[in-house]
Amino acid sequence: MNFEDRLNDLKKEKDVAILAHYYVDEEIQALADYVGDSFYLAQKGKDLNNKRIIMAGVYFMGETIKILNPDKKVYNLNWLADCPMAHMTNEKDIVDMKNKYDDLAVVTYVNSTIETKALSDVCVTSSNAAKICKKLKEKNIFFIPDRNLGSYVSEEVPEKNFILNRGSCPRHNQINKEDILSLKKLHPRARVLAHPECKKEVLELSDYIGSTKGIINEIPKLDGDEFIIVTVKAIRYELENNYPDKTFYFLDKLTCINMNMHKKEDLLTCMDNPYNEVKIDEDLRQKALKPLERMLELGK
Ligand code: 13P
Ligand code: SF4
Repeated sequence: MNFEDRLNDLKKEKDVAILAHYYVDEEIQALADYVGDSFYLAQKGKDLNNKRIIMAGVYFMGETIKILNPDKKVYNLNWLADCPMAHMTNEKDIVDMKNKYDDLAVVTYVNSTIETKALSDVCVTSSNAAKICKKLKEKNIFFIPDRNLGSYVSEEVPEKNFILNRGSCPRHNQINKEDILSLKKLHPRARVLAHPECKKEVLELSDYIGSTKGIINEIPKLDGDEFIIVTVKAIRYELENNYPDKTFYFLDKLTCINMNMHKKEDLLTCMDNPYNEVKIDEDLRQKALKPLERMLELGK
């Protein structure tokens, strides 16, 4: 029996749905039932009726699904695949900021731990952060943990006072304006599309700024056939499948080592490893659920 047949049998027997982010290996994206950006995966994970869900992404993505859909068994395809940015904030910073400002909303990027979410007023993803911040009644916003996304959103929502945190994505943050300028020199007609986790000097050279799904959806709206994509290059699979007549250029160094940890063979075995199953404390879950539910409501 070949791999796909074995996987299909297992999925039927155990009632499993496979979710994958655009950043994982294309073989896994091809086998997944649902592929998307972090907002889509949270929405989908909440609504699925399957008994078991396998998440091929980074740790917080499986954890988010478990918070929203606690009766299901949720497995991270590889429990070691974590997002380093999720740990770039701490409880003390949040408590200090709450003490400093009366009129404060703690706005937390989903790339964060459950402990951070539990102390937050609302969660956001890169696809809905500006929309949600505009809807908040508070004047002051403590935006954690991503400084670059926070800086971008602060420009989209000038009526609010943003206080930024120190965190950033080690992968997107390493890209400099020189990287973009040298690609533009090689491909002068190409339009530039960048993820808002990039630094401001990169976003300033971009024709479009948005989440992974936003970038994919924007291609047919832009003139031309050549595009420089400034996000993790595994998104190539979805772009080339959707737009076979267009040409895409990527930055070779823009890979996510955490998303790369997944191997398709683990789809057959991950449910046997107790470390892969997401288990969370119920009290903590209840606290983290509120900002996530608020995100789903305000981000619609
Ligand atoms: P998206 O919200 O676009 O899925 O991005 C998640 C992420 O981790 C980007 O590095
Ligand atoms: Fe985290 Fe960056 Fe990887 Fe996204 S690309 S999962 S922010 S390390």
